[in-house]
Amino acid sequence: MRVINVGLLGFGTIGTGVVRNIQRNATIMQQRLGHRLALVKIADLDITTDRGVQLECGVLTTAVDDVINHPDIDIVIELIGGYEPAKSFILQAIANGKHIVTANKALMAVHGQEIIEAANRQGVSVMFEAAVGGGIPVISAIKENLCSNEFNSILGILNGTCNFILTKMTEKGSDFAPVLQEAQKLGYAEADPTFDIEGADTAHKIALLSALCFGTTVDFDQVYTEGISNITAIDIQFATQMGYKIKLLAIGKNHGEQIEVRVHPTMIPGTYQLAEVNGVFNAVRLTGDFVGPTLLYGSGAGMDATASAVMGDVMAISRDQVSGARARLPIMGYCADQIKALPIKPMSEIVSHYYLRFTTIDQPGVLAKIAGCLGKYDISIQSMIQPEWHEADSVPIVLMTQAAKELDISNALEEIWQLDIISQPTCLIRVEHDLD
Ligand code: HSE
Repeated sequence: MRVINVGLLGFGTIGTGVVRNIQRNATIMQQRLGHRLALVKIADLDITTDRGVQLECGVLTTAVDDVINHPDIDIVIELIGGYEPAKSFILQAIANGKHIVTANKALMAVHGQEIIEAANRQGVSVMFEAAVGGGIPVISAIKENLCSNEFNSILGILNGTCNFILTKMTEKGSDFAPVLQEAQKLGYAEADPTFDIEGADTAHKIALLSALCFGTTVDFDQVYTEGISNITAIDIQFATQMGYKIKLLAIGKNHGEQIEVRVHPTMIPGTYQLAEVNGVFNAVRLTGDFVGPTLLYGSGAGMDATASAVMGDVMAISRDQVSGARARLPIMGYCADQIKALPIKPMSEIVSHYYLRFTTIDQPGVLAKIAGCLGKYDISIQSMIQPEWHEADSVPIVLMTQAAKELDISNALEEIWQLDIISQPTCLIRVEHDLD
């Protein structure tokens, strides 16, 4: 029996989960691998805090070199997060011939290319299942089980913090701020929640999934990203009235020579399976040309679920090691020389249905003026609500449009704003209707 030696960088929450998993399920993993995994070194700046796990003497170290330059370590798990020093440590470990497992979505989405090129030169694996969807095995589904498909689209609920907040706002009819506070109290939202609520976390994840599904590099700076902090209780109430749920949706679409990659609050019909994904759960809907729509659902974060994804990658690399198949899977699912650089469609060119909530002054002809402007830009109204209750000088008018081009919507809204009939900025929420 062989021993596969593993080193860990970063002994935080997920790192602790990895130790728990490797200890509690050592036998089952050995039965499945036919060989033994040994966690030989863990490097962290803090080696005194009690994480509730027992480690053999000498495993913990503050010296990162004890892991990345260790002559016997085969696989390095990086759970430090962020760009630096994580990137430098990974590149050094690759240069030393180590295989890499990481949960670092920001690093892989922004600097993945450099890491992948270094790994390809060395013939080592880089796996990052835990970077997207926590414990949901979406990356291995794309790279392995569904690899005979051309992917048409990806729709994802990929951030548990946002999904928890939107779910609670829907259930309670509350506004954003008090629900965010509740999420922070419960430990679901970070003290500084910006990264989650403004969509960056989701954008990193959809950038990675789009690259994997569509066989392209994705320039992260080109990913349109809008978070949930402007969503109000009133919009959720109108959405419910119209039969929709509002979700922070990550969207990837394949148009052949162009792709769409975007993140924004999105209204989806309440009857769709994704509309039923509530609380901190994540889900990804992949549509392949042969498999059709496929929904993966589960825990998108948390110590144990994320550790499960990390250790799945460790097991996959270990199986390659023992079978002699080094770096069997292309890191991004396509052979390196087949990866294209497909352009991302500018937002002005996307086509969507739109929910528009105007706040207008209360005078005759306002509705006709709005409808006239929309008509001028070829935007057709699908439905409309004007509730009886409203303040004397402030009238909400809620419209759902037929499919329209975003540029036409922006031009029409700009022209409507110039009419001096609008008393507050117009709320726009894109609507995803026509699932393929
Ligand atoms: N912060 C993320 C979330 C989990 O709220 O879903 C880690 O990606």
